[in-house]
Amino acid sequence: MPDPHAHAHLSKTELLARKNEEALLGGGQARIDAQHQKSKLTARERIDLLMDEGSFEEIGKFVMHRAKDFGLDKEYYLGDGVVTGYGTINGRLVYVFSQDFTVFGGSLSETHAEKIVKIMDLAMKNGAPVIGLNDSGGARIQEGVVSLGGYADIFYKNTLASGVVPQLSAIMGPCAGGAVYSPAITDFILMVENTSYMFVTGPNVVKTVTHEEVTSEELGGASTHSAKSGVTHFSCANEVACITHLKQLLSYMPQNCEETAPAQPYEPSGDESRPVLDQLIPDNANQPYDMREVIEGIIDTNSFLEVHQNFAENIVVGFARLAGRSIGIVGNQPAVLAGVLDINASTKAARFVRFCNSFNIPLLVLEDVPGFLPGTDQEWRGIITNGAKLLYAFCEATVPRITVITRKAYGGAYDVMNSKHIGADMNYAWPTAEIAVMGAKGAAEIIFKREIAAAADPAAKLQEKVDEYQEKFATPYRAAHRGFVDEVILPSQTRQKLIRAFKMLENKVAVLPRKKHGNIPL
Ligand code: HXC
Repeated sequence: MPDPHAHAHLSKTELLARKNEEALLGGGQARIDAQHQKSKLTARERIDLLMDEGSFEEIGKFVMHRAKDFGLDKEYYLGDGVVTGYGTINGRLVYVFSQDFTVFGGSLSETHAEKIVKIMDLAMKNGAPVIGLNDSGGARIQEGVVSLGGYADIFYKNTLASGVVPQLSAIMGPCAGGAVYSPAITDFILMVENTSYMFVTGPNVVKTVTHEEVTSEELGGASTHSAKSGVTHFSCANEVACITHLKQLLSYMPQNCEETAPAQPYEPSGDESRPVLDQLIPDNANQPYDMREVIEGIIDTNSFLEVHQNFAENIVVGFARLAGRSIGIVGNQPAVLAGVLDINASTKAARFVRFCNSFNIPLLVLEDVPGFLPGTDQEWRGIITNGAKLLYAFCEATVPRITVITRKAYGGAYDVMNSKHIGADMNYAWPTAEIAVMGAKGAAEIIFKREIAAAADPAAKLQEKVDEYQEKFATPYRAAHRGFVDEVILPSQTRQKLIRAFKMLENKVAVLPRKKHGNIPL
């Protein structure tokens, strides 16, 4: 404990100044230098980068821990290892906590947890996002269960705040053990390459239990979690890039679930046609193209922020702006695995759809999907339950929802991908759309099996039947005749149609049956 009489000679204002200086130094200059040597910024430097200049107001700067064991009665730091407060980002109110690794390794004590909970409470009462900058050695080991209780208090608040205000987590150092579950409950995770990691148990425990030799980076670094596990939504090259990304991400979101996202100024050009889109779909239906090119052709220039870019690449999700307004896009990606829906693609898209719906962000679905991925691996790991998540997420979404079928819409995947039947508001198809139970070859082989077998030339017969099926069903017109597709449009007209349709849907009200909460197949 710093000697309470050491400052006795100071005036009251000098004492305040001294305490402020002390708090700014966290764990001291040597530890700040050590942090910099690891290519890491300090908790306060990160806040400075994140918030509008001069806007940050700190809360709880002089908080100290209450522990007495293992020498802690002699070691105190003002703030207790986390900087908390509020301020603005691009003029909008946000709450932030930033863990200070220079104080007991950023470890979480009872009081450290109380500070975080305090700003979360304020954020919920005032309807503004919470940003967590995580850099911590986990539970303050000297405090035992009191620290674990602090974590649980945070998890509980994270859950209560979920769907009320956006919660974003940047991982900028260690995040291990149960500590990972706070970011995991929040809406988006960003990790910094090479200096951050997340795992439930570290390499040493892994070695003891499973005999696997693995580094921290391999086990839980940014590349692992952005590509393999999907735990993180963004992998950022360094801390500055991470903070820039955080701000950009926030710009697509409203402050809370009662509001809509801020629109960017938009000057209509008078000509929203995009002829480049007419050239995009290859003549051969089995040839891939990049759905990102379709996205870029539709949205406002350079407005796409892709989420989960390296995970389940057979589906593309992200935020964009259309005529200045924020939208969420889900697009099958024919360039990867032909855009098939598998377990990872389904869970990735389902979570994104649920985020957009929670925060009143309209949804655009771009569909080119040959179906669900067959195979024992997928079936045994539960493509049924996981595919159902995406179906459920779309069904319960009440935001404006529009689908554009660019090419394939086959089988159950047709229903799942925001079909009219499950509540989409407007469904368009391009002339290249093929809406059917399955591909023409598979269909012909089943329904004309006997005819083909009996034919003098089975191959020729098969081709004849494939052509017949193709002509009848591999078009958008059957669906348009039934009204399942509202309009068949030229690709070049898509942007114009979407701008008008989203505007038309601006005041949409859709109410779900009264319930406590639904039971999404987890
Ligand atoms: C108290 C801690 C601490 C902790 C680090 N420190 N972790 N103090 N509790 N959990 C202190 C160190 O004593 C050291 O103090 C300073 O922080 C920096 O730590 P170093 O080890 O010197 O830094 P580095 O080499 O970079 O290693 C960082 C680290 C390592 C990998 C995080 O410190 C580490 O393994 N810490 C323990 C991690 C852990 O097992 N935590 C509990 C997990 S269980 P000085 O005074 O030297 O600067 C858990 C459960 C949560 O968290 C459950 C929630 C439900």
